Amino acid sequence: MPWLENRSISATATTAFDAFLHDFNAKLSDASTNRAELCRELLAEFLYASSYADLEARLPLVALNLDPNNVLLEAEHYQPLDHTKFARVKPLLWLWYNFDTSPAAQNLAFGIAFRRVLAQHIFAHCGQNIKIFPGVQFSVGYNVSAGDDVVIHRNVLIDDIGGVTLHNHVSISDYANIYSHTHSPLEPNDVTLKHTTIGAGVRITYHATVLAGSTISDDSIVGTMSIVTKDIEPHVIAYGIPAKPMREKLRPPMPIVVDSRVFVHPEDRQGNPDYPTAGTNNATKALKTLSISR
Ligand SMILES: CC(C)(COP(=O)(O)OP(=O)(O)OC[C@H]1O[C@@H](n2cnc3c(N)ncnc32)[C@H](O)[C@@H]1OP(=O)(O)O)[C@@H](O)C(=O)NCCC(=O)NCCS
Repeated sequence: MPWLENRSISATATTAFDAFLHDFNAKLSDASTNRAELCRELLAEFLYASSYADLEARLPLVALNLDPNNVLLEAEHYQPLDHTKFARVKPLLWLWYNFDTSPAAQNLAFGIAFRRVLAQHIFAHCGQNIKIFPGVQFSVGYNVSAGDDVVIHRNVLIDDIGGVTLHNHVSISDYANIYSHTHSPLEPNDVTLKHTTIGAGVRITYHATVLAGSTISDDSIVGTMSIVTKDIEPHVIAYGIPAKPMREKLRPPMPIVVDSRVFVHPEDRQGNPDYPTAGTNNATKALKTLSISR
């Protein structure tokens, strides 16, 4: 018996939701759609039960803040931002984050399908049947590649400026963080972009953090509150700070897609042209642990 049982809502609601999502997907698939206008119109409807024009007349300051043309997101300050790609996805990210504050977003029967349409038009690749819960954020969105049946739970942060790949059946639990950039300890402006890869069937459990450039192999689990700083091999349960493989899943042999022991890491990239040798300003030394006695 599966842990999650299928539940359905009324036929009336299903029909209305399907019709809306079909139309929404068609608009996003049409290159002539003005995505900023679509975003502000939908936000006016979801958040203020109003048309954008009415909201603009009644509450101009509120209306201005719904229009992605008047908004700055953190990624827009990043040196390595691909401005052409970001211009296409920014209205959709703005719609996503603000939709997530609406009552409709808390309805799994509508919110998950709505985010699935958005993800398909934002991510570099989005497989089938992705499920994304409320409160998830990205840095640029266009550098996420997700396989089939990926699940991303509440309030996850995916920093994808350096690229993040989630293979089939990855599950990321509530409040987990996945990073793909890092700052030099000596020169904070010296940023290195490191691709982070999460293998098939991996579970990143609650509140865990995966640092940039880590490769987590298929079928592994990262324990709750852990911090992944290095690669993790297949079939293991890794936990702690830093996360280390502590247990092994006892399974019959199975095909493996990502195995960190043979995986060829995508090359690190500089995040700031002022530092052409990115990642070399790392001259630190370990301190002896001080023991204080009274
Ligand atoms: C990683 C995890 C799966 C380990 O489960 P497990 O293999 O059954 O391990 P146990 O609970 O038997 O714990 C084994 C040991 O590891 C320790 N441990 C387990 N998880 C730990 C963690 N995240 N950090 C530090 N220590 C941990 C336990 O205290 C125990 O220590 P002991 O041997 O000194 O008593 C589990 O602790 C965890 O993090 N679960 C999160 C819940 C989850 O699965 N979420 C997914 C939702 S999609």
